Amino acid sequence: MEEREKIVELFYKQKETLDNFLERDAISKEQYDISLNGLITKMGITNEELDRIVTKRLVLRKWRIEDAPSMFKYASDPAVGIPCGWPAHKDIEESKRIINMFINHPYCYAICLKEDIDHPIGCIELNLKTSLCRSEDECELGYWLGKPYWGNGYVPEASKALLKYGFEVLGYNVIWCCYHDGNNKSKRVQEKIGFEYQRTDDNYVVVQLNTVRIAHVSLLTKERWLNLNS
Ligand SMILES: CC(C)(COP(=O)(O)OP(=O)(O)OC[C@H]1O[C@@H](n2cnc3c(N)ncnc32)[C@H](O)[C@@H]1OP(=O)(O)O)[C@@H](O)C(=O)NCCC(=O)NCCS
Repeated sequence: MEEREKIVELFYKQKETLDNFLERDAISKEQYDISLNGLITKMGITNEELDRIVTKRLVLRKWRIEDAPSMFKYASDPAVGIPCGWPAHKDIEESKRIINMFINHPYCYAICLKEDIDHPIGCIELNLKTSLCRSEDECELGYWLGKPYWGNGYVPEASKALLKYGFEVLGYNVIWCCYHDGNNKSKRVQEKIGFEYQRTDDNYVVVQLNTVRIAHVSLLTKERWLNLNS
């Protein structure tokens, strides 16, 4: 691991301790802010390094244009995009175009293994103002992972951390998620992280594939999330 990454990792370990103190009311919000700002200054943490979500095995960080080859490696596999509703990437230029779009999405993160944060293996996002959202305090979770990494529980792990961020820090009250009929892998993820089935849309238009599918819609309320995690 590079020297800089070691410092950032240490920062996130210390931040986690502070987060735990705050959660247990062992320190006030004012003390928390002072300590956190002190750490940021002392360790020279940049805004990019600050905009990360760190879990046991993963780092979720903003996409960078130099990630295009990594994105292409996985997004060029139709087994990844087709279940999500988009065609496989045809070349690295296409991945660059998508990354440029993602950079402007506020809560779109590259999923990276902690030991190699320079080569993302997937993507996770809280999408705002989608067709499922009924008001400003609702958003929608979306995700995909490179095929070689399926089956390790990485997306549930990343989702739980992003949901916590969405409910606790960003203030959302409802988070939606959906999967297209037959995508039992995504159905399982949604079950594992607490989403509850709401309805089925028999005529869900998949614009990028110019087709219509059956979509199963589920949601997680902040109240249920708090109950599941208390
Ligand atoms: C859906 C997806 C994100 C799951 O991520 P993940 O990190 O592999 O999630 P999990 O490890 O929890 O596995 C979920 C389920 O997938 C199935 N699964 C796991 N590995 C598999 C593999 N190699 N082949 C087929 N199915 C597999 C299992 O049923 C598993 O459930 P289980 O843990 O109860 O056995 C991933 O498969 C993916 O990116 N698929 C393509 C894109 C996609 O469908 N995105 C979601 C659109 S709604």
